Amino acid sequence: MCGIVGYIGHKKAVPVLINGLLSLEYRGYDSAGVAVLSPDNNEYKLDIVKDKGRVKVLQDNKELENLHGNVGIAHTRWATHGIPSKENAHPHLDNSKSFAVVHNGIIENYIELRQKLIENGYTLYSDTDTEVIPNLIHMNYNGDILQAVSKTLKELKGSYAIEVISPLFPTKIIVAKKDSPLVVGIKDDEKIIASDIPAALSHTNKFYFLDEEEIGVIEKDSAKFFDINLNEVKKDIKEIDWNAESSEKNGFEDFMLKEIYEQPNAIRETIGSRLSLDKKVNLELDGVDFKKFNKIFIVACGTAMHAGIVSKYSFEKFCRIPTEVDMASEFRYRNPLIDEHTLCIFISQSGETADTIAALRLAKDSGSTTISIVNVIGSSITRISDYTLYTHAGPEIAVASTKAYVCQVTLLNILALYISEQLGIENKEINSFKESILELPEKVKDTLTTIDAIKEIADKVYTQKDLYFIGRGTDYAVSMEGSLKLKEISYIHSEAYAAGELKHGPIALIENGITVIAVATNPNISEKTLSNLEEAITRGANSVLITNQDIKNDKINYIINIPKIDSILSPIISIVPLQIFAYFIAKNKKLDVDKPRNLAKSVTVE
Ligand code: AGP
Repeated sequence: MCGIVGYIGHKKAVPVLINGLLSLEYRGYDSAGVAVLSPDNNEYKLDIVKDKGRVKVLQDNKELENLHGNVGIAHTRWATHGIPSKENAHPHLDNSKSFAVVHNGIIENYIELRQKLIENGYTLYSDTDTEVIPNLIHMNYNGDILQAVSKTLKELKGSYAIEVISPLFPTKIIVAKKDSPLVVGIKDDEKIIASDIPAALSHTNKFYFLDEEEIGVIEKDSAKFFDINLNEVKKDIKEIDWNAESSEKNGFEDFMLKEIYEQPNAIRETIGSRLSLDKKVNLELDGVDFKKFNKIFIVACGTAMHAGIVSKYSFEKFCRIPTEVDMASEFRYRNPLIDEHTLCIFISQSGETADTIAALRLAKDSGSTTISIVNVIGSSITRISDYTLYTHAGPEIAVASTKAYVCQVTLLNILALYISEQLGIENKEINSFKESILELPEKVKDTLTTIDAIKEIADKVYTQKDLYFIGRGTDYAVSMEGSLKLKEISYIHSEAYAAGELKHGPIALIENGITVIAVATNPNISEKTLSNLEEAITRGANSVLITNQDIKNDKINYIINIPKIDSILSPIISIVPLQIFAYFIAKNKKLDVDKPRNLAKSVTVE
């Protein structure tokens, strides 16, 4: 999805802006551009260079050499309104060419606003919703930029993170946000603005996080913030414990592979001091009266939702509270039964997913208690929910989520144990379950050794058009995530089925040579999954079994053995070979593993 960078300081702006855009490439985009204010005979001129295509195209544009100024804004666009083209790329200018604007988000009432501008003599040159913003600022400007921006923002419906520069105020960048992230990095007499922290990490780890409908006036040695009515707002600087190195590839061919290998350590960070054998679970949730809840909702999107599906088993087993898992995009519109006796748990790597934010707001408005499991510190979801628990997975750059998932599942299980202890529920298995969680980093590390065996399978099946995953219980839940990984990065059609459902319809799809991957880690039901796999083999399927049980079966083409662990936690182990499988299939197909087509790292629109 679109990315924003801004720079004001003593350095030449262009290289900083380009580096920032390069570090945001993982978000997915189709065009890129910069606007810079450069001194020009005691005045300032505003130059824009933009084009369709990669940041590299922009970087190679000779016109950039003429942009000498120290103040600039930049953008990577992921088309929503209007095709990818030079005209539709950001920054956009108003008709007088005084105000340059970059924008993330969607202006929902842009048609009405375009009409209003046209009636007032303005011409719109692009198909974008964004172009109304600089023109409205121009229309509302009477010498006071803050008034003009505030008035403009009040006219917008939808979501925005914007930067505005102009020769009329050459030492300032005006920023604002609503439902789309924006941070201001602080470094002595330099400020680096970004939609995502990694874009500024090579400069600083100190940030201001803009809140909803806030406006910032950013100068090289100051940053002031206002609410939409222009009352000044005092903000604290937050220090982020991520470093620039953690958002680089460090010798790995792709971020995804690096992040797969980071999983043991990421889980270690998630566990941190929250869990030890001789103490109660330690989470910062003081003040929550867990006794009042008779229902838990876990709500999220995509991989984060899969983390919820996997963890439902733990909440029901250890907390004895009925737990339902919902897709945020469905939950927000289905009028769910929520009241003050409901605990709503939201999961999000980015903390910026539009559907999850909307579902969270709905839950808050309905009087429930909200706890969010989030990776990106200071992100929107953390500021809306009653309580936030951070996964501490470090920056996840590849669009396909890997380490965030295993950390989310780990943290959800720790939360289930915490609630269980708070409720005083006796369960003889709690201690051995805690031991199993503490063993996770080593076991995930051991599982990474399956890489060669998995690669061998991927090398054989990467040309197939369809692939099926089956499992029961948590093995079914992890199959859904394995199937999503494969779809996302290899573009192979794949589906996950509860193994017992196969013969109720989908088995009709099985024909000679189709690959079926079964996950079987639960000692009580593995034999049953195996029988279902055999049913597929009988109909000609090429078979793969991921298991931690002692299974010997000559009919199965490939058996991948993984470490044994409590079956509730086994998805954290069994997902690893499935991630590696998707990775090598995509590599064999020579696809861009980190930036799959049509996808964005954080989905900030509905
Ligand atoms: C994961 O591989 C996907 N890119 C996607 O499903 C993602 O998990 C989903 O969009 C939710 O994102 P979030 O965790 O940032 O809210």
